[in-house]
Amino acid sequence: MLDRIGDRSAEIAVIGLGYIGLPTAIMFANAGFRVTGYEIRRNVVESINSGKAHIVEPEIDDLLKKAIENGTLRATSNPNDIKGKDVYIICVQTPLREDKTPNLEFLRSAIETVAKVMKKGSLVIIESTVPPLTTVRMAELIEELRGFRAGEDFYMVHAPERVMPGRIFKELVYNSRIFGGITPESAELAEKLYRSFVRGQTFKTSSTVSEVVKLMENTFRDVNIALANEFALLAHQYGIDVFEAIELANTHPRVKIHVPGIGVGGHCLPKDPHLLVWPAERDFGLIKLAREINDSMPLLTRELLFNALGEVNVPPNDAVVTILGLAYKGNSDDTRNSPAFALIDAIKDDVAEVRTYDPFVGGTHQNLEDALNGADAVVIATDHTAFKSLNWEDLGKLMRTRILVDGRHVVEKPPRGFVFRGVGRGEY
Ligand SMILES: NC(=O)c1ccc[n+]([C@@H]2O[C@H](COP(=O)([O-])OP(=O)(O)OC[C@H]3O[C@@H](n4cnc5c(N)ncnc54)[C@H](O)[C@@H]3O)[C@@H](O)[C@H]2O)c1
Repeated sequence: MLDRIGDRSAEIAVIGLGYIGLPTAIMFANAGFRVTGYEIRRNVVESINSGKAHIVEPEIDDLLKKAIENGTLRATSNPNDIKGKDVYIICVQTPLREDKTPNLEFLRSAIETVAKVMKKGSLVIIESTVPPLTTVRMAELIEELRGFRAGEDFYMVHAPERVMPGRIFKELVYNSRIFGGITPESAELAEKLYRSFVRGQTFKTSSTVSEVVKLMENTFRDVNIALANEFALLAHQYGIDVFEAIELANTHPRVKIHVPGIGVGGHCLPKDPHLLVWPAERDFGLIKLAREINDSMPLLTRELLFNALGEVNVPPNDAVVTILGLAYKGNSDDTRNSPAFALIDAIKDDVAEVRTYDPFVGGTHQNLEDALNGADAVVIATDHTAFKSLNWEDLGKLMRTRILVDGRHVVEKPPRGFVFRGVGRGEY
């Protein structure tokens, strides 16, 4: 296998062609491997095979086109097309259920597919973020379903993905990577494989350490954002701008306070702390409380909005409110767990109308002017670059009442003629 990786003759199947799987498949295909992408959504398969990406990400269309035109990447929904491959890389989603416990059904189903079609000597890699011990359990599932012995008849690795949407193709190359093998040989093979395009540092460890490392990283970020959000609440109490205070505190050589805002969204951050503490043998109060604080931020934003409506005597049930941005993150079309939806849910029964505008997301108003025409209040829920240079004094002329609530620190200075509120932006 090492030789086949070295001369790029190893054949690769990537299971799940979403935000992580498609870029990964493209990277291996453009590194010279033959890659088959296996995806259950047929419309996604069709779109990819026609050279068109179904997700928004810088560079993706050109890189995908190149791989399709070179014939190194093909997508399929037929499991027979991924029979007998050397490498299987699993990139399916690992969401939470309603009760906040992990839903590993997508992963289990992907493993069942792989178990049917793999051969002796295959390398199975899980890139999905999973609760500790999952890789070992999935190796046991393959043993049970196929009768192959893990570490002897096949290799298995957890290789967590650490990219940030919007920078995926840069970070795939330059981020450091962890390869957690169920055996040292498994980790060795995966490291060699990814070295075909990774320029960052690479580290080998066990699969369980690798799973915990990935979950600790996102839990660290979530807890730190929760702390920044509590600082924002304090800033309201003292009538100061939290962003000024954070900037000054961060001049301390050992302090790096995170950015507060309307909430934490995306596929990963809201769920990964739950994957880490499940099944809980202890209370893990800090991690759970951080989740609760971050989940409560859309409600603070609602409070800011209703307070501003009160100041100008607009009864909420007469108010037309426009939400700018549905994506959870700037310049992305990804709306998974976006706090914008939590805000909409929190206000929709109490106001006359909620409108939305997001240039990256379908199903919203087509243009900003229409979305603002006759509105009483605007809430910025996403830090798209395009929102940073808006001329509020001009746009305000379209509005019936000029209220601006900034949930993402997009507006530096409150525009003239507006009642302004911002998360962490002082008195209200
Ligand atoms: N999106 C990110 O920024 C990011 C970053 C780091 C890690 N991760 C982790 O990577 C994993 C994938 O995340 P994503 O954002 O790419 O998810 P996604 O939902 O965008 O993509 C998953 C894809 O897998 C497909 N799929 C589901 N079950 C399948 C099956 N049995 N066979 C074939 N295809 C199947 C789905 O249709 C979907 O297209 C998750 O565990 C996530 O936590 C994501």
